[in-house]
Amino acid sequence: MPQTIERYVIWNNKGGVGKSTIAFHAATRYAERHPGKRVLLIDLCPQSNSSMMLLGGGERGENYVLGLCTEPTPRTVVGYMSTVIAGGQGAPLPDPYNFLVQASSVNDKVPQNIVLLCGDGNLEPMSPAVTGAANAPALTPASQPWRWVHLTFRALIDSFAARDPDSDVTVFIDTNPSFSIYTELAISAGDKLIVPVNADDSSRVAANALFILLHGQQPPHPIYGAWTFAVRAAQSGMVVPKIHAVVGNRLTQYEGAAGAFAALSDATAVTLFEQYRAAPHFFTARQIAANSLAEFRSLYSVALRDFNTAGVVAAHLGCSLSRLTGGYYDIHGHNIQVNAARVSECLIAVDKLIDML
Ligand SMILES: Nc1ncnc2c1ncn2[C@@H]1O[C@H](COP(=O)(O)OP(=O)(O)OP(=O)(O)O)[C@@H](O)[C@H]1O
Ligand SMILES: [Mg+2]
Repeated sequence: MPQTIERYVIWNNKGGVGKSTIAFHAATRYAERHPGKRVLLIDLCPQSNSSMMLLGGGERGENYVLGLCTEPTPRTVVGYMSTVIAGGQGAPLPDPYNFLVQASSVNDKVPQNIVLLCGDGNLEPMSPAVTGAANAPALTPASQPWRWVHLTFRALIDSFAARDPDSDVTVFIDTNPSFSIYTELAISAGDKLIVPVNADDSSRVAANALFILLHGQQPPHPIYGAWTFAVRAAQSGMVVPKIHAVVGNRLTQYEGAAGAFAALSDATAVTLFEQYRAAPHFFTARQIAANSLAEFRSLYSVALRDFNTAGVVAAHLGCSLSRLTGGYYDIHGHNIQVNAARVSECLIAVDKLIDML
């Protein structure tokens, strides 16, 4: 069987919708359910939240991330990207394992088959240099600086996969909500988008903005239209990833206002379904086409309940949901009770997302 490489980017240009939480739970649960695959989490967000969770959560995770970021050549996205760009186009790629951390060697509450390319706050200050490298003039007809820089992490995934061609690879990429250069690199590394949305009106607005960022505005703006990621990606012969799953996150937190919540979340679903009808090729294909809103929902969306205490404790301990047992936990000096039944419900919800991958 030829090796498979699956590349998922968890992205929404709206902040705080649950990208990092979903990246952590999806990667850990996916790895548990596919012990024969190698799972790679690439954290292309300067906040590094999913890295912190994977490396033990709480202060422990935070300190470990800080340690990696302050190594002379950081074992992070920044270390990898600066090594590649400093080497120049055409130079051999660095060994990916010089930059990856096996998560279970640091945190025994996650499966053994996950490796991390850690996030790094220095993504922010280094981004003008990365933009400069991408926009450098092409010195030979064959060189395409924009394409080369944008494919940095795609190339990393390929070299990681090539190190063990007998095992399949699944990659999850966490992103920042801003459409900055490093988010463009994240999008360029992926094939399939997992888009978390909340049940509020701004999620509907964000759903429209997402298509404009990826594919440009229709009709294109006479000036800015030529500057979009979509236009430059097309000029460089690159493919924009397709929407694979829309995750309605924390929906149950609105239970108290069920009526308002249902109407607003419907509005987001309607917006996405309209896009699907206008351009089905922006979405990954299914066996059958969705002909109604209900079919679209069942084929492309999954609801992730509010994790409540279970989620807070899992993130704080950097613990995959399946390993979180019921009982009392000391969190920042507070004695917090985790109910085993709630953990099982959260796990069932995460498994629905994993079933779609
Ligand atoms: N299903 C959930 N249940 C309960 N809390 C959640 C859930 N998903 C996310 N949260 C909480 O919501 C907050 C934001 O989540 P998270 O950091 O994952 O969002 P994000 O999209 O990565 O944010 P940013 O845009 O800042 O990177 C966190 O405090 C997280 O614990
Ligand atoms: Mg985040």
